[in-house]
Amino acid sequence: MSLFDKFEKNAVLYNSLSAIGKNPFAVVMEEVLGPTRAKIKGRETVLAGTHNYLGQTFEKSAIEAAKAALDREGTGTTGSRFANGTFSGHKKLERDIADFLGLKHCVVFSTGYTANLGAIAGLINPAEDVVLVDADCHACIYDGCALAGAETIRFRHNDPESLDKRLGRLDPKFKGKLVCIEGMYSMYGDIAPVKEFVEVAHRHGAYLLVDEAHSFGVYGETGKGVSEAEGVMDEIDFYTGTFSKALAAIGGFVASNHPQAEYLRFSSRPYQFTASPSPATIASAGAALKNIKEHPEIAAKLWANANRLHAALTQYGLKLASKPAPVISVLLPTKEDAFAAWNFLLENGVYVNMAIPPGTPGKESLLRLAVSSAHTNEDIDRLVAAYGALAEAFPSAKVTAAAS
Ligand SMILES: Cc1ncc(COP(=O)(O)O)c(C=O)c1O
Repeated sequence: MSLFDKFEKNAVLYNSLSAIGKNPFAVVMEEVLGPTRAKIKGRETVLAGTHNYLGQTFEKSAIEAAKAALDREGTGTTGSRFANGTFSGHKKLERDIADFLGLKHCVVFSTGYTANLGAIAGLINPAEDVVLVDADCHACIYDGCALAGAETIRFRHNDPESLDKRLGRLDPKFKGKLVCIEGMYSMYGDIAPVKEFVEVAHRHGAYLLVDEAHSFGVYGETGKGVSEAEGVMDEIDFYTGTFSKALAAIGGFVASNHPQAEYLRFSSRPYQFTASPSPATIASAGAALKNIKEHPEIAAKLWANANRLHAALTQYGLKLASKPAPVISVLLPTKEDAFAAWNFLLENGVYVNMAIPPGTPGKESLLRLAVSSAHTNEDIDRLVAAYGALAEAFPSAKVTAAAS
C-alpha cells in the first residue's frame, strides 16, 4: 500500500495521452503572440480557452502601470495582507473596486480562490452556522466550506425553489445561514436568477454570496456582473471576484455593504497566511479596471463576438449548453469524443478547454470556448471554420446526434 496508489488510475490516462502528444491537461504556450494568439506545438494558434474576456492581457496602460510599480516597489511584497504585505496600492485597489461596484467595503485577497475560501471560512462558525451551495458551484466554494468545517447542503443548480425547500427544512439549531451561488457559471455559460435567490435567501433570514468571477466586467449595464443585470447589487450580501479573468492579472476580492466584511481581515486564514499580490499585479489590475470602466465598448465587442460565434455554432447544428454568453460550450456524449474533438480543434489551429466528468455538471463532457473582446474578425473567422469542420467530423457533437 503506497501513498501514490491513488494516482495510478489517472496516471495511466495522463501518460498515455502525453505519450501521443494529445494531453489537454499538459498544454504549453510556447510563445505568447498576443491576447488571442500563442504558439502551441510550434504552430500559431487562436486562443479561445483563456478567460481573457476583455482582452486586457496586453492593455498598454496596465503594462506600463505594472512596470512602474516594479521599479518603484520591487518584485514582491514578501508577506501577507495581515502582516507586511499591505501596500498603498492594495488599499487603493480596494477603494477602486468598491467604488466601481457601488459597494462600501472591499477586501483584496491573493487569488479569487482564496477570496472565496476566506469569505466562507471567515464568516462561518462551524458550531452553529450552515452553508447552502448551488450544486454547480466552483471548487473554491466547496473548499471554503471544507476549510470552515461547516455543515454544507447542496441545492439544485439555478433552482430557487430547491433552495427554498432546503431552507424551509433546516434544523432550527443553525443560527447563521449562508447561501452561495455564482453569477455566470463557467462550464455552460449559464447565468443565475440572482434576484429570485436574493428573495428566497432573505425571506429565510439567510445571507447571499454571489461569486461573479466570470461575470465581473462582462454582465450588467456598467459591467458589475449578473447581480447588476438582475437589478440587485444593493441586495446581495457578499460579492466575490477575481482579477484573473476580465482584469487579466491575478488576485481576488470580497466586496459587501456590510461593515463587518472588514473583519474578514482578522477572521480569515486565507487572508492572513499567504503572501499578498505583488505591486505589479495590483497596479495592472487597477489599470485594467480603469480601462474597462472608461471603455464600455470593450464589453460590447465581447458580446458582438459571442453572439456571432454562438449563431455560427448553432447554424452548424452543434449541441450548445446555453444561450449566447462569453462561454460557449459544445456538449459531447463521451470523454473519448471530447478528447478527440479537442485534439481535432488544436490540429486546426484553435485552442479551447476540454472538461470531463467528474469536473462537469451533469457528468457531461464538453468543449468550452471562452470568447474575448480581443478576438479579431480573422480570429472569429478561424474559429467559425474550425467548428464547421468539427461539426462535419464529429456528428456526435450535433443536436441531431441524440435522435440518430
Ligand atoms: C467561479 C470561480 N470562482 C473563483 C475562481 C478562482 O479564481 P482565481 O483564478 O482568481 O483563483 C474561479 C477560477 O476559475 C472560478 O471559475
